[in-house]
Amino acid sequence: MNKELRESFHRAYMTFFENAERTRRWNLFNDIDWDALDTSRGDTELATNAETFCGVELFLPDYMNTHLELFGRNYAQAWFAVNWGYEESKHSLALREYLRRSGQRTEEQLHDYADTVLAQRWERPYETPREMLIYGMIQELTTFVVYRSQRTLALKNDHQVLADVYRLIGRDEMAHTKFYQHMVALLLDDDREGTLADLAHVLRTFRMPAEQLLPDPGARTALMRSTGIDGRVYLRDIVAPTLKALHLTRHDLPGPKQPPPVPALDREN
Ligand SMILES: [Fe+2]
Ligand SMILES: [Fe+2]
Repeated sequence: MNKELRESFHRAYMTFFENAERTRRWNLFNDIDWDALDTSRGDTELATNAETFCGVELFLPDYMNTHLELFGRNYAQAWFAVNWGYEESKHSLALREYLRRSGQRTEEQLHDYADTVLAQRWERPYETPREMLIYGMIQELTTFVVYRSQRTLALKNDHQVLADVYRLIGRDEMAHTKFYQHMVALLLDDDREGTLADLAHVLRTFRMPAEQLLPDPGARTALMRSTGIDGRVYLRDIVAPTLKALHLTRHDLPGPKQPPPVPALDREN
């Protein structure tokens, strides 16, 4: 990595970390009003979705391994991975606590679920560090969009505590998205042509992580259905804001312009 990029990455990480420390830290035990949970009233769909997204977050050890393997020898990127991993570790815990404290899953069921999920291994979907960085950017925003839609659903059905969980973890996902966007913008400055080619490729082939690995095929289908993300939403809520944040348009992307990039997200459903 050239010196300029190395320094820019480090500044980007310090800004991210300062914001996280000053304004975004939250506490699983104090910042969610668990006492307000209505244990007499569950919601099968919301609980299944929470379990499914908890499952996606449970592959954290594999995400961390990949991140450290690819980026672990770069100061800023390695420290980001560690901080990011801490933040992500709270996401599955918050969803798990919701399921347990609301009485919709028992402790044993949750342990069994974690064992089943972790018996699988998530493999990184792209080879190069740059593709994986772009993938991280898209994945974080997709997760944010998913949690936003779950929050809306929870509020609509008067499940305030679950809505608060999604608000907190969604806010983290947006912060991660912005950090990745910053990194990709720096990569664009460094090698515009190569980065645009990788961006086009990842946008056209993106899939939710772990979509194929969740234990129950029904849960996999439910995952994509409950995200509410189809080809149209993907273009509107993920591709368009990403390009805008990078000061790009679809015309900047190399490769086939027609048909427009259609995500692999919902192909199987
Ligand atoms: Fe997360
Ligand atoms: Fe995240």
